[in-house]
Amino acid sequence: MEPSLWRKELAPFFRLFLFLFLATLLGDFILHQFNLIWVGRYLGIPGTLLIIASLLYSLRKRKVINNGNPKILLKLHEILTWMGALMVMIHAGIHFNAILPWLAVMGMLINVVSGMVGRYLLDRSRRHLATMEEKYRMHGMSRPEVEMELFWDSMTYDTMTKWRTIHFPISFVFAALALGHILSIFLFWEWS
Ligand code: HEM
Repeated sequence: MEPSLWRKELAPFFRLFLFLFLATLLGDFILHQFNLIWVGRYLGIPGTLLIIASLLYSLRKRKVINNGNPKILLKLHEILTWMGALMVMIHAGIHFNAILPWLAVMGMLINVVSGMVGRYLLDRSRRHLATMEEKYRMHGMSRPEVEMELFWDSMTYDTMTKWRTIHFPISFVFAALALGHILSIFLFWEWS
């Protein structure tokens, strides 16, 4: 394998995933070490809220809202879902009480991993489309206009469109499982 391909394209993906895994272990270790396991029990709430907040990007993309720079909202989506996933992973810990929450965690992880694959594909399509920048510039478009045009263009690029068939629908599976888990917690509270 060419070293530059590894360094430029695959290494960031693996690094991000490894980091998520190690940060989860470290977080879990710290909570256990300082007798703060109860913190982990509640970390699921901010984690879920961060993931929900990150979906502002989707609202912007689908024109439910018209404010906000899509590029920044997408970056926020990546960062907030990553941080939210970390909190949810620490919250899940290694305690196995029921199947549903673990299915939800798996749904989330598929979402996160597919998201990271998408980020890598996005970089590739951006590079591919960078050649179009010159064309737009020659048509007299301003720099912000070119940036906006290229942003949505790279989103509609072939591989991105195919990739979405995983990343987008799995969000609904994850949401349904997470909701099931949250509802069952409320039911449990009612009955105890
Ligand atoms: C719990 C985790 C995640 C969930 C539930 C989730 C969900 C979503 C949703 C609903 C969209 C919007 C699609 C649309 O409206 O068309 C989206 C887009 C996107 N996500 Fe995620 N995501 C997660 C994690 C990630 C991560 C960790 C990354 C990257 C590091 C990522 C990268 C992307 C990218 C690049 C897009 C833009 C694709 C497009 O506009 O079609 N996602 N995600």
